Amino acid sequence: MAEVIIVPRSAEGGNLVASEIARRIRATPDLVLGLATGSTPLPVYEALRPALAEVDVSGVRGFALDEYVGLDPAHPQSYRSVIAREVVEPLGLDPARIRVPDGRLDGIAHAGEVYEAAIMDAGGIALQILGIGTDGHIGFNEPGSSFASRTRVKTLTEQTRADNARFFASPDEVPMHCITQGLGTILEAGQLVLLAFGRSKAAALAAAVEGPVSASVPGSAIQLHPHVTVVVDEDAAAELTRADYYRYAYANKPTWQGL
Ligand code: GLP
Repeated sequence: MAEVIIVPRSAEGGNLVASEIARRIRATPDLVLGLATGSTPLPVYEALRPALAEVDVSGVRGFALDEYVGLDPAHPQSYRSVIAREVVEPLGLDPARIRVPDGRLDGIAHAGEVYEAAIMDAGGIALQILGIGTDGHIGFNEPGSSFASRTRVKTLTEQTRADNARFFASPDEVPMHCITQGLGTILEAGQLVLLAFGRSKAAALAAAVEGPVSASVPGSAIQLHPHVTVVVDEDAAAELTRADYYRYAYANKPTWQGL
């Protein structure tokens, strides 16, 4: 099962994950990271700045989870722009080594295959950072997504479009389609680190971690992965039925074990 770590605040979660990523980059300078967008991973990226200050990051490679389809790549809310602004530039990563699915309409029919091939050429993703949507989606794999799915175009649910409207001038501006790593793609990463903060994520998080494994809750796919770390604050942990056990297990975590 996933290791669930309940932290007092998102900042502590960010520090924890950032120090593990820094440790991994020191050991493997060309580490392949899976990068998530949205507000959830921001504490990780903020904590990575000091954590990587003395670390050579010139070889680090990265693959974003997803992208909007049909949004100008230069739009400030395209995930290409978000990853550049929030991850690549502040951490001093090499932009040539960081990829985002190509959501431009020209070539979209093959963009998924191209992305899958690039991940394979890189030797796969070593550590995949994940957030979770209020409807249980990971990446942009909306409820009903196949656990075998690969990078492909999906139609966003109305709920996801409404959730993401805060990033756009008006709800109508939120694209209808996206291109996202599939659940099958995500499950092939070496390690999954799923973060969730805030009460609005509690139901989706509990369903993903403790509910039945079901395509209706795409996040529940993590239960099929052998190495998953879930980092949540108290609010996001509110609906977990085994919270006491997770706290007990973490308090007694063997010192030799990394995240
Ligand atoms: C977005 C992204 C996901 C993200 C999720 C939650 O739409 N495509 O990768 O994990 O929804 O977003 P947030 O972290 O802002 O709550």
